[in-house]
Amino acid sequence: MKKMVIGGIILIVVLMAATFFMAGDAFQGDDYINALTMLGALAIISITIATALKYVNQIKNDTATGELADENWDGIGEFKNPIPSGWGIIFIGTIIWMLWYFFIGYPTNQFSQIGQYNDEVNEYNSKFKDKWKNPSKETLEAMGESTFLVQCSPCHGVDAEGIDGKAQDLTHRISKKQVLYTIKHGQHYLNYAMGAMPPLMAQGADAEAIATYVAGGLKGEAPAAFATCASCHGPDGKGMNGMAPNLKEYDETLVKHVLENGKKGSIGTMPSFKGRLNETQQKAVAAFLSSIKAE
Ligand code: HEC
Ligand code: HEC
Repeated sequence: MKKMVIGGIILIVVLMAATFFMAGDAFQGDDYINALTMLGALAIISITIATALKYVNQIKNDTATGELADENWDGIGEFKNPIPSGWGIIFIGTIIWMLWYFFIGYPTNQFSQIGQYNDEVNEYNSKFKDKWKNPSKETLEAMGESTFLVQCSPCHGVDAEGIDGKAQDLTHRISKKQVLYTIKHGQHYLNYAMGAMPPLMAQGADAEAIATYVAGGLKGEAPAAFATCASCHGPDGKGMNGMAPNLKEYDETLVKHVLENGKKGSIGTMPSFKGRLNETQQKAVAAFLSSIKAE
C-alpha cells in the first residue's frame, strides 16, 4: 500500500510539472484566473489518482463473503447473495417504464418536433397545390426557370448549355455522340414502361446516318435505316405518346422519367431527383426546357 501511495504522489508531481512546463508562461502577469485553473487541475489529478488507488487496493486485498452456489464454471464460482431489493425495483420499474414509453408515452399521442415538421410540410404542400392548380404556360415557364436555376444549373449551367461538356446541353435535344452511344449500348436507366432499349439496333454507316438525322432534330427525309427506330420511337420520333422517349424534344413525359430515375449516358451520370420536385415543378421544368429550345 505504501509503495502505491508514494507512486501516486510521484505521478501527481510529474503530471503537475508537465502541465506547468507546457503552460507555465500563462502565469506571467498578474492574472489569478490561470492560478485558479492550475489549482483546479491539481485537485482533479489528485482526486482521480486517489480514487484509482482506493479501488486498485480494494481489488488486490478484498475478499468476498457468503455461501457459494454448487455450480462452478471453469473454476469460477458464484455467491448465493440475494438481489438487492432497490436494484430489483429499479430493474422492473425500467421495464414498465419502457412499455409505457413505447405504447403510451412517445410518440403516439405526444407533441413531437418531427410530427410538427411533417404537419407544416403537408400544410404548405397543399397550399402550393391549391395556389398552382391550373398554372398558365407563362407561370410554368417562370417557375421552371427558377427551379432550374436552383436545382439544375450547377451541372447544366445557368444558360442550360452544359458546363464544359460535363452535363448535357439542354438547348439541343441530343448530340450525335450521344445517339451513337445509345445505339451502341442501348438504354435502360429511364425506366420507360416498354422496358429497355436493346443495344446494337443499327451499325456502321446506318448508325451514322441515323445519329446525324436524330441529332439534327429529325428534319428532312429520314434515312431508310431509321425505320428500325421508328418501330418504337414512332415515324416522327416523338415516342408514340410516351411509349418510348421523344427524340425530338424534351416533353413532359421524358423530363419526368429523367427526374424520377436519373440517367447514365456518354457524358456521365445524372442523379435521380425522386421526391425532390413535386409534379407541378416537374411540369414547370419541362415547360421551361421547351421554351429555351434552340433552333
Ligand atoms: C424496341 C424498341 C426500341 C427500338 C427499336 C429503339 N429504341 Fe430507342 N429507346 C427505347 C426505349 C424503351 C428507350 C428508353 C429506355 C429506358 O427506359 O431507359 C429508348 C431510349 C433511346 C434513347 C435515349 C433517350 C435520351 O434521351 O437519351 C435514344 C437516343 C434512342 N432510344 C434512340 C434510338 C435510335 C436512334 C434507335 C434506332 C437505331 C432506337 N432508339 C431504337 C426503345 C427503342
Ligand atoms: C449532378 C449534375 C446534374 C444535375 C444537378 C442535373 N443534371 Fe441533368 N444531366 C446531368 C448529366 C451528366 C446528364 C447527361 C447524362 C448522359 O450522359 O446522357 C444530364 C442529362 C439531362 C437531361 C437529358 C436526358 C436525356 O435523356 O436526354 C435532362 C432533360 C436533364 N438532365 C434535366 C435536368 C433537370 C431538369 C435538372 C434539375 C432538376 C437536372 N438535369 C439536374 C447532370 C445533372
